[in-house]
Amino acid sequence: MSNPSILILAGDGIGPEVMAEVKKIINWYGDKRSIKFDVSEDLVGGCAYDKHGTPLHDDTMAKAQEVDAVLLGAVGGPKYDDLDFSVKPERGLLRLRKEMDLYSNLRPAQCFDALADFSSLKRDVVAGLDIVIVRELTSGIYFGEPRGIITEGNERVGINTQRYTESEIARVARSAFELARRRNNKVCSMEKANVMESGILWRQVVTEIHQKEYSDVELSHMYADAGAMQLCRWPKQFDVIVTDNLFGDLLSDAAAMLTGSLGMLPSASLGAPMANGRPKALYEPVHGSAPDIAGQGKANPIACVLSFAMALRYSFDLGDEADRLEKAVEKVLADGVRTADLLGEEGVTPVSTSEMGDKIVEALDASLA
Ligand code: IPM
Ligand code: MG
Repeated sequence: MSNPSILILAGDGIGPEVMAEVKKIINWYGDKRSIKFDVSEDLVGGCAYDKHGTPLHDDTMAKAQEVDAVLLGAVGGPKYDDLDFSVKPERGLLRLRKEMDLYSNLRPAQCFDALADFSSLKRDVVAGLDIVIVRELTSGIYFGEPRGIITEGNERVGINTQRYTESEIARVARSAFELARRRNNKVCSMEKANVMESGILWRQVVTEIHQKEYSDVELSHMYADAGAMQLCRWPKQFDVIVTDNLFGDLLSDAAAMLTGSLGMLPSASLGAPMANGRPKALYEPVHGSAPDIAGQGKANPIACVLSFAMALRYSFDLGDEADRLEKAVEKVLADGVRTADLLGEEGVTPVSTSEMGDKIVEALDASLA
């Protein structure tokens, strides 16, 4: 049987730097655990535009459809700010999500004990936090038609459309309920049913799926604005949050800060099962391309490393190895190793991106002893 396949799309900004550390870890699994992957690499985002005039070449799109998992770094940067909307770096990422039909985006926000003091919130509010935001990723206002900037009379009008079909809501709701069953059996669904028809339908469909298929799971509903407030007030009341594409984008950035740094948060974007039974999948850190620190060795590779841990768990059925990698990260943090985004303690000098990767590899070695 051939090895499982991975397509690496490191992208722009700090993407290639953080991905270099993931490659060390992929090699470690090959050398030390005889878990080998067939790795290929390609371009996405601004770097793809520079080479091909498009943020995602059709050949790259076709490759992404074939592999067992795509690992993505980050896209975008100020150099591309003035490009036409249709070829902006972000369009490459959005095309991948849409054409691979990755409707369920899991964004765990976990606060490592060693980092509880880095959060802008008090230690007891965040210590031990472990929640997952399930964000609908292929529909809603990100993709709804009509959209565009038109002229009406003597002024311009910007238009986007929030649109959800019943089946789109049902499938992401199921994925949240399934996840909750493997965790603490609790889902909170967030929308704005008080002002949006799409929110009314969202609430109805989530409730129906719950009653028919998942009545063993505890379900609550919250307006998304109140949900944002509750996330900051007492985030540990949540376990799994399910929400739409735009609210999920906002709520997951807010949740990221509960954990101390945006440099810590991984994500998995999952679609329907492929022939081998595993979901179509793309893994990426929640953070962006951070052009202000790109190329300086300052970036925190942990979000990207933890995204690979999610790949081990969800695409390769290697839950024990995912645990091993997550524990290695936890150990390195407990030992006081910090990249520049995690400073604040006295007398701590930051390590570089690559030193952080080396420390994680050392901790993996130690896990075999
Ligand atoms: C995210 C990002 C993306 C989004 C951008 C880069 C298109 O903010 O993954 O959260 O808005 O979905
Ligand atoms: Mg975002």
